[in-house]
Amino acid sequence: MSILVTGGAGFIGSHTIVELQQAGYDVIALDNLSNSSETALKRVETITNKPVKFYKADILDKDALNNIFDNEKIECVIHFAGLKAVGESVKKPLLYYENNISGTINLLNTMKNHNVKNIIFSSSATVYGNPSVVPITEDCKKGECTNPYGWTKSMLEQILTDTQHADNEWNVILLRYFNPIGAHPSGLIGEDPSGIPNNLMPYITQVAVGKRDELGIFGNDYDTPDGTGVRDYIHVVDLAKGHVKALKKINEKAGLCIYNLGTGKGYSVLDVVHNFEKANNIKIPYSIKPRREGDIAACYASPKKAKLELDWQANFDLVDMCRDSWNWQSKNPNGYKE
Ligand code: NAD
Ligand code: WQD
Repeated sequence: MSILVTGGAGFIGSHTIVELQQAGYDVIALDNLSNSSETALKRVETITNKPVKFYKADILDKDALNNIFDNEKIECVIHFAGLKAVGESVKKPLLYYENNISGTINLLNTMKNHNVKNIIFSSSATVYGNPSVVPITEDCKKGECTNPYGWTKSMLEQILTDTQHADNEWNVILLRYFNPIGAHPSGLIGEDPSGIPNNLMPYITQVAVGKRDELGIFGNDYDTPDGTGVRDYIHVVDLAKGHVKALKKINEKAGLCIYNLGTGKGYSVLDVVHNFEKANNIKIPYSIKPRREGDIAACYASPKKAKLELDWQANFDLVDMCRDSWNWQSKNPNGYKE
């Protein structure tokens, strides 16, 4: 029996396959490579010394999905495949709703038709909207998302919840990630954004490697200790290990479960810049820019439920994250492109 990892060539998917293979699971990866490279999976094989069976396929393609489920014995799906660029989703909402929502509905129908009813879904802290209290616990009400990408996560949580409620043979785990950064300590796999990075850490590493002149900090007048936005940054390897723990929970016939995956600690943009400088001995020039539309002041997790029920907690700290992000970027200045 195998674990099907959709979006397996992506940033979080590739790191999760490493942890799954190292924990002894058989893995099948599916990806349309719209935001990733097959090289990531070759690098995974180098790390784990095990082959990764790969299907280049699109979750919008029902026949391709059917073919994979006909050919393989799949016990659980870890579903990462999706588009994730917040700004692009505002400009191209239908692309995001079709890819993320129609794609996931295709996947769920194919799973149901093949009697595979176990799924772990990549959700996001974005479903909380602008939280009224931090740290955020899982029983906080979901909020108003500020962009179509966020709404796809919120709507997909509802679709998965309704699917499980209608048929309690389904085991559904919704994992709400906070801000994943870092890279595998080998430096072989990491985040490889196309174009100008939207997210903080890839922007910082591209400044460090000389591709961008300076970091723009989006606002220093928030109600936070130093005025810059506060987030819960989590090392992608810790996040990946959370999926291995979630798989154990699935095997206990979990029903529907929701977990925050974060460290529980909030760091400001300036904290990240200063920790990066200290960890890597590199100066990051920056200037203060206006606030970015849709940004909130502070967002960090209560990770207690995952600790209690999954026996999972984050172990890497911010210095580790800064070191490993730079290790990846400096060894691969052009990402997976040669
Ligand atoms: P990523 O873009 O690196 O990985 C997603 C993968 O899905 C890519 O390899 C892409 O090619 C693939 N994909 C997209 N549409 C597809 C389709 N129609 N068919 C097949 N494959 C398709 O992103 P990531 O950072 O690894 O994120 C993984 C998941 O986690 C996504 O669902 C994302 O929304 C979610 N998430 C990410 C973050 C984050 O900050 N990185 C935070 C919260 C949630
Ligand atoms: C972090 C902080 C910015 C870039 C996004 C998505 C969210 C989730 C994770 C998927 C903020 C500041 C950033 C820059 C800056 N993705 N910043 N200059 O916005 O918390 O979350 O990624 O689910 O849905 O919205 O992450 O890394 O973009 O920003 O000052 O060039 O860094 O204002 O305070 P964010 P981020």
